[in-house]
Amino acid sequence: MKSILDYETVALIDEDDAIEIIDQTLLPGTTKMIRLHTGQEIWDAIYLLQVRGAPAIGVTAGFGLYLLMKHSQAATYDEFVKELREKSDFLNSSRPTAVNLSWALKRMENHVKGFYGELTGTSINAQEQPSADNKEHSSFEAILPQLIAEMRAESERIKEEDIDVCRRIGEYGLTLIKDGYGLLTHCNAGQLATCKYGTATAPMYLAHEKGYNIKVYCDETRPLLQGARLTAYELHSAGIDTTLLCDNMSASLMRTGAINAIFVGCDRVAANGDAANKIGTSMVALAAKRYNIPFYICAPTSTIDINTPTGKEINIEQRKPEEVTEMWYKERMAPEGVNVFNPAFDVTDNDLITGIVTEHGVLTAPYDQAIKKIFENKK
Ligand code: MRU
Repeated sequence: MKSILDYETVALIDEDDAIEIIDQTLLPGTTKMIRLHTGQEIWDAIYLLQVRGAPAIGVTAGFGLYLLMKHSQAATYDEFVKELREKSDFLNSSRPTAVNLSWALKRMENHVKGFYGELTGTSINAQEQPSADNKEHSSFEAILPQLIAEMRAESERIKEEDIDVCRRIGEYGLTLIKDGYGLLTHCNAGQLATCKYGTATAPMYLAHEKGYNIKVYCDETRPLLQGARLTAYELHSAGIDTTLLCDNMSASLMRTGAINAIFVGCDRVAANGDAANKIGTSMVALAAKRYNIPFYICAPTSTIDINTPTGKEINIEQRKPEEVTEMWYKERMAPEGVNVFNPAFDVTDNDLITGIVTEHGVLTAPYDQAIKKIFENKK
């Protein structure tokens, strides 16, 4: 029988001008693939968390921007870039915290500009220059299909790289795990949040593959239950020894000595190493510090935002009160009219983080320097 790990989290179905995703809001009870065709459908799927997890959102955005430009009628490069920016800004407005969304859209835009520059010998900022006359008009018609083909190729590269990067995070993460370890994770930074392996789960999958006897504890992750519905589901399906707990139980579990290391994902790492991840992560890190348990953030470099100096500047998404008061319950579980605090993410201060596991290795404090070095080497 097909397991949840046999489905692709995000796939481009080019012949149908669509992105196919698993509707994650229905898991684990129902596995339903849905196809997104329009900009609004893609926006809604990201906002409603039908596709979620920073890397998967980035891949969806890359495919989305390609599909939204695929049938562009732009007559000039200026018009094309204007349309590209409008569509990119629209997709980018679906969720604010995961930097992979804007990262993927920017990458697509930059690729178009770079490729156009290569074709025409103009600079990357050529779209800032006033449009030319009919000569440009006719030559752009010939270039347009090539730009679209390039957008498709770039969006597919974003997906392929995600798989490779997660595997490498898994390999570095594996060096931090020993046979017999008890591991804790929060939210879902698993295959369902990426295209394969996940980030926080990648070391777990590799440890399991290697025959390590590991025990993974999953916080259920209120209010949207990504830990219970998604992480526990995918790890259990993989045959990993999986135990579910409510969020308010993790400190007590740590106190028993059952947890040797904690791996979580992340939506945006600031330049100083402060890391935004699913709400509740910082509580886990605080308790881990108290009980002397190593706490690792797993983050592809696409999740590191060197333009955000510290966690204070990270825009934290606030979501609807109903997610806390009504969702998942048979009936409303809070008085009508009560105020609700429902941030989707929190920031873990860098001094609580033992290491940031990236595809280039495990970064340790001082994070500002380690992060700077990685980006210098990438240039
Ligand atoms: O609101 P979500 O489900 O998109 O939140 C997801 C997380 O917080 C993940 O830990 C994060 O995106 C990393 S996914 C590899």
